[in-house]
Amino acid sequence: MARQPFFYDITLRDGNQSLKKPWNLKEKEFVFNKLVDFGVQAIEAGFPAASEMDFEAVQHLSRIAPENLVISGLARAVEHDITTAIEAIAPCKKPRLHTFIAMSPFNMKYVLNKTPQQVRDIAIEAVTFAKEQIKKINQNGEVQFSVEHFGDCSENLPFVIDTLQEVVKAGATVINLPNTVERTRIKTFVDMVEQVYDALPKDIIIAVHCHNDLGMATAATVESYFAGATQLECGLNGLGERAGNTNIYEVAIALHNSGVEVPLKLKEIYELALTIADMSKVPIPEKAPLIGPEALAHRSGIHQDGAVKTKDMEKGAYRPIHPTLIGRKDDEKIGFTSQSGKTAIFEIISDAGYPITIQEAVRITPIVKEAAEKVGELPARNIIDIYFNEVFNVKGDFKLVAFEKLAENLFNLKFFHKTEFFDMNAQGNGPVDACLSALKQAGFPQKLVDYEQYALDGQIFGAGATAMTVIHFEDLEGRTIIARAKDESTSKANVKAIFNGLNLMNN
Ligand code: KIV
Ligand code: ZN
Repeated sequence: MARQPFFYDITLRDGNQSLKKPWNLKEKEFVFNKLVDFGVQAIEAGFPAASEMDFEAVQHLSRIAPENLVISGLARAVEHDITTAIEAIAPCKKPRLHTFIAMSPFNMKYVLNKTPQQVRDIAIEAVTFAKEQIKKINQNGEVQFSVEHFGDCSENLPFVIDTLQEVVKAGATVINLPNTVERTRIKTFVDMVEQVYDALPKDIIIAVHCHNDLGMATAATVESYFAGATQLECGLNGLGERAGNTNIYEVAIALHNSGVEVPLKLKEIYELALTIADMSKVPIPEKAPLIGPEALAHRSGIHQDGAVKTKDMEKGAYRPIHPTLIGRKDDEKIGFTSQSGKTAIFEIISDAGYPITIQEAVRITPIVKEAAEKVGELPARNIIDIYFNEVFNVKGDFKLVAFEKLAENLFNLKFFHKTEFFDMNAQGNGPVDACLSALKQAGFPQKLVDYEQYALDGQIFGAGATAMTVIHFEDLEGRTIIARAKDESTSKANVKAIFNGLNLMNN
């Protein structure tokens, strides 16, 4: 059985420290409860030495944490940070002290101003001290050590691995490998993670913590999991310094789609994302994967066709998941632009509750496209207006002037064909029969295949339109022509539909 990923959430630390207005204790508690509910196994609650407010928040969250949840507090590799963090996480059942130092050649030289040997000594001392201190408050307390800027350590990886072996001997049981700044290829980073995994004892948990500077943090995290990292450090909505940290939803779904059992409540993702966007005041970009308002929108005709054909299937032609997997109730959105086609028109009109056939959608497509070329995405209302104009009122050589009942089974039909006027009386078994007979006398015989009459819903069709007729003619080439019309009188709806059909056949 595949290893289960261990989700270590950093929203309350890396995420919070990146906000324009960091959360107060109440807000942190709200997000904390959401994380617990979502099912993450560990929460980095804050950086207690950073401020009194963060200390209090971490301590409070440690007090209310469920027994099985790991609570971690961040500390630089200095005694004061470590003791402060341990004091803050002491109330929980599973405390973890998380200390770190940079080991990339660049950072050791230009930021820390220390030699590699000095950094190595600091790391080992900090972990030794942290282990001693945490054991005093909880026998099961753990120490996590992070190689800050691990992603920049390709040149001195042997030094890093060697130091980590000592750090493990000093008591760290979780080794975190951050891509603190994402600068180059993911493969290079993942290969390095794999080398560390191979070099350390197998009971040591390897973690990755990826920033998203080049937009590849999800890929780096997912591939690191397959290279041996079990602890995946992620944030809600991808919140974190600069371009953010790894987005937890994307990692969870990528693993789920790859057949890995993910211990999170995936159905809560969408709602959670909206809540966090609101709380953080960091809006979800339109095109954000999975959760963006546009993430399920299709505008090209080919995509719309595939989306509609597979709409009710778990796997969709043009979507990575069924939206309900993440609790999204909105369906795949079909928007009509100049790039769209008949399927979109058919869906938009049908969704709005109006009858339409694919044949009719094909017919009005060029007109709708022309309108969309001028404005971009066309609102459904405009498409419906075009539909009414073109489908219910077909213009052409035939123009109905009047249709009247003169006596039982006797009707009068007045119409123009081009400029010629016809005034015909005809017998018929009802208006359709009489109208067809009048047309035949005038020299326009039609082959009626079928016709249907409907009572209309005044709510959507508007007052005055209470009847709709749909007629099916066969033209001289044996094709079926479908035409419809509406009116408050059934007999007028019948005759108008026949004239719409005549115009369609002759257009
Ligand atoms: O990005 C980073 O390297 C960090 C460490 C403190 C883990 O946030
Ligand atoms: Zn970070």
